[in-house]
Amino acid sequence: MDLRGKNVVVTGGNSGIGFVTARELAMGGARVTLACRNVGAAGAAAAEIARATGNGSVGVVRLDLASFASARACADELGAKLDHIDVLVNNAGTYTQGDETTADGIHPTMQTNYFGPYLLTRLLMPLIEAAPAARIVNVSSAMYAVGKLDLSRPSFLTARNGFSAYAASKLATILFTQELARRAAASRATANVLHPGLVDTKIMTLRKWYDIFIRAYVDRHSVDVETGARTSIFLASSDAVEGVSGQYFVDCAERDPRLSRRATAMRESLWARTAEIVGLPAD
Ligand SMILES: NC(=O)c1ccc[n+]([C@@H]2O[C@H](COP(=O)([O-])OP(=O)(O)OC[C@H]3O[C@@H](n4cnc5c(N)ncnc54)[C@H](OP(=O)(O)O)[C@@H]3O)[C@@H](O)[C@H]2O)c1
Repeated sequence: MDLRGKNVVVTGGNSGIGFVTARELAMGGARVTLACRNVGAAGAAAAEIARATGNGSVGVVRLDLASFASARACADELGAKLDHIDVLVNNAGTYTQGDETTADGIHPTMQTNYFGPYLLTRLLMPLIEAAPAARIVNVSSAMYAVGKLDLSRPSFLTARNGFSAYAASKLATILFTQELARRAAASRATANVLHPGLVDTKIMTLRKWYDIFIRAYVDRHSVDVETGARTSIFLASSDAVEGVSGQYFVDCAERDPRLSRRATAMRESLWARTAEIVGLPAD
């Protein structure tokens, strides 16, 4: 895809994989908007991207995915700035410990990684469908494979520790992408989902004593952030995936996520229950 002049939005584009994704798409000539919770950090990142790429079309909007009000305000702000979106990269994500809930009553990891991106994406669909052939790129994680969802429980979680919430949020991201792709099939918009690999970024910050074991593993097995951003950049811009939708990618290649029959069966009800919780109609 020729990125020149394309409207690209990258959530969490101030840091880690999102920063490199935004920078490389700007390098290709896209008009990039970083949607971030810390507008100071995002402004500094935008300036750095502009300096590194010579592309001055790098803007910032505020987005706290752990707040439904902020996701709605962000969609409004993007609607006021852009008449269409060619690429939306739902990259922002978190991993929190503890049992707290957000002001919306959701587990913070579930809201940041799943409910928030769901709400934002659905609110942006009119802008996305206004583009000739838009792409939605959702960043999941291989941790989805151990994720469990129970739609009858608060935040859909079967256990409320950080690890379970993270894995569940990434499973929900895959199911959301598949259902979104199915629903968007009538338009020319596509939606795909990816695992970036194990990357030593801020999300890997130690939180508990036993995280030292994770740290040791990360030190041995992680790839650098440039490599970690490759699949996001590929899905956002490569001609090789034109028209491809609803697929899961690792290392720039399609993979079967091998979802359980139980998980696949809940795709439509997950969509509908989530819509209810974020305050949108199911269709
Ligand atoms: N690193 C890995 O090994 C790995 C593996 C699999 C999947 N992933 C996924 O890759 C994505 C990018 O993560 P990363 O590794 O690049 O980590 P990172 O450097 O920590 O970047 C995460 C980004 O998400 C933003 N974010 C966190 N909470 C937010 C909120 N409530 N509202 C808006 N933005 C928020 C962060 O903003 P702040 O700068 O303000 O904190 C940051 O910009 C995430 O979805 C992560 O789950 C990473």
